[in-house]
Amino acid sequence: MQAMIWLQGTAWLPEAASSVASEVDALFHFWAWVSVVLFLGVIGATLFFVVRYRRRSIEEVPQPVKEKKLIELAWIVLPTILVLIVFTWGFRVYIKMYTAPPNAYEVLVHAYQWYWEFEYPNGVKTTNELHVPANRPVRLRMSSADVIHSLYVPAFRVKQDVLPDRYSTLWFEATQPGQYTIFCTEYCGTQHSGMVAKVVVHPEQEFEQWLQEAGVPEDMPLPELGARLYREKACFSCHSLDGSRGVGPTFKGLYGHEVELEDGSRVVADENYLRESILQPGAKIVRGYPNVMPASYASLSEREVAALIEFIKQQQ
Ligand code: CUA
Repeated sequence: MQAMIWLQGTAWLPEAASSVASEVDALFHFWAWVSVVLFLGVIGATLFFVVRYRRRSIEEVPQPVKEKKLIELAWIVLPTILVLIVFTWGFRVYIKMYTAPPNAYEVLVHAYQWYWEFEYPNGVKTTNELHVPANRPVRLRMSSADVIHSLYVPAFRVKQDVLPDRYSTLWFEATQPGQYTIFCTEYCGTQHSGMVAKVVVHPEQEFEQWLQEAGVPEDMPLPELGARLYREKACFSCHSLDGSRGVGPTFKGLYGHEVELEDGSRVVADENYLRESILQPGAKIVRGYPNVMPASYASLSEREVAALIEFIKQQQ
């Protein structure tokens, strides 16, 4: 019963689904309840003294305060002990949280404005979905392609900044198969709040199977590959398929129609326009939209560009 309540989370804390979560929670609960006791003690004593020792007449002159060694010693020694308990306890949990076991399974994390990409040892990449095995330590080696992001999995109680030009690492061991939310917790621009991903925790054998199937087959039809790239390259974070306005123009009804550019000129969105806009995003800017598309899509292969164009053509 207790375990179920933890798993589902409470008004206090989200579900606890990693090996360190219960330790972090225990420390949190200890400190929270100590604070409650101290708060009530201080406020209670204050109220009691206000009433008990109130000035009862104009002539009343208070007694000089007498020194009480025992009381003075108590308020020095007791808080010191309390602080040292929490320090020692917190430091042990901290060391555990930041020292990955040497046998941990390693996943590379690339952060972009505004999506997460995960790369597995066999070359498989996923976007906004981190797949991991349950009951096995996983170490994330993370870097950013642009600005500072921060990876946070509340259910695992782990959080770490992700920086450009250097690696930062994070490890956890998920204890419950299921899906958990990843947030970006460092303000990183317009779509920061939309930089949400999920962790999919597989039972251990299922994870190997998932990893095998996640490779892209050579003969995947172009529109299908395009749909996959739209997800994996996170085109969706800026370009909608339903006509709604995002950071960039929607793909719905784009192909074959005229678009108005920044300088007022008009072009037809044909295959060459789409190709250029993917590979050199700054070449033609649609009126009313910022020039913020990253140049990183220039690394797409010819086949991938063709696949995306086929996919965009289908969005009528
Ligand atoms: Cu990435 Cu906020």
